[in-house]
Amino acid sequence: MSKYAFETKNVKKYYNGDKVKALDGVTLKAEHGKVLALLGPNGAGKTTIVRMLSTLLAPTSGTVKVMGMDVVAEAHDVREIIGLAGQYAAVDEFLTGRENIQMSGRLYHLPKAEVKKRTETILARLNLTEAADRQVKTYSGGMRRRLDLGASLVGNPKILFLDEPTTGLDPRTRQELWHIIQDLVDEGTTVLLTTQYMDEADELADHIAVIDRGKLIAEGTSDELKTHLGGDVVEFALDKESDVKEALKAVAKLSKQKPTVDEDGLTITVPVKNGSKGLLNVVEELNKVKISPASLSLHRPSLDDVFLALTGKKAVSAVKPEEKKKGRK
Ligand SMILES: Nc1ncnc2c1ncn2[C@@H]1O[C@H](COP(=O)(O)OP(=O)(O)O)[C@@H](O)[C@H]1O
Ligand SMILES: [Mg+2]
Repeated sequence: MSKYAFETKNVKKYYNGDKVKALDGVTLKAEHGKVLALLGPNGAGKTTIVRMLSTLLAPTSGTVKVMGMDVVAEAHDVREIIGLAGQYAAVDEFLTGRENIQMSGRLYHLPKAEVKKRTETILARLNLTEAADRQVKTYSGGMRRRLDLGASLVGNPKILFLDEPTTGLDPRTRQELWHIIQDLVDEGTTVLLTTQYMDEADELADHIAVIDRGKLIAEGTSDELKTHLGGDVVEFALDKESDVKEALKAVAKLSKQKPTVDEDGLTITVPVKNGSKGLLNVVEELNKVKISPASLSLHRPSLDDVFLALTGKKAVSAVKPEEKKKGRK
């Protein structure tokens, strides 16, 4: 098996000569069976990467490989093992849900009986059996998105590319999709998920690559990205002012920066590197000197903070999708 499920090496995609640098040298590696989130604002280059990985677009330069196969030279073989579902559900309005999945199955050159069997399994899995005989034009946004995902599953793909699969959906429908995606990953599927939503990357991704204006600007686990930004602090409050001096002494060794005492004279703040471990260390040190804090908490930067710090832009809010839909017209 190839070392990585898919990878890009210094890949560039220019449009209009070199006027538009949609991608400007992006290197990505995805581990087998994991979720890689590509996080970035509108226009960052997410769809461009997805289209290249799924053989729909050739890079200007650099290489793109899926399961060790080159997406240009071995496009046909790559297509056999991938599934693609997009932000704009690519389903036929006038066909029924069932017909849509079956049609997509035929594109994989599967025997008719096999397509039938898989279609029923997928309909059930995506909770679409009841609506299966209805034309898609009667479907809600969430149902279309599920159907689009379903159509991408009919070839039993080892690798799934999901381009903003939950953009514009209401919170409940997003959660439903998250569960479906998580189940697929639990069964061994490798997933590339593009998203503008911090919480989505946080929830689903093992590894997060942040891109902006065609460039990779950070990557790591959600924890690593938060740590990189710094700013984890453990905060605890004491009952007695007489304990403060000793408590400060006890926790001083845990951090390069000095712990500080709040205006109230009772609350102590300790900057720490690794939040959850830092929290445990503080408890341990206080325990040694027999001080038990009245309250104790850990503050971490959110992925939103990370995103803002890296791109200078606020992340898209996941709420009020209905309002956004109206605004888009
Ligand atoms: N066919 C095209 N011709 C010219 N520019 C394009 C084309 N497709 C995409 N772009 C530009 O490339 C950049 C990246 O686009 P895209 O990959 O769609 O970003 P994202 O999916 O992150 O929103 C954007 O600036 C976009 O306008
Ligand atoms: Mg896009």
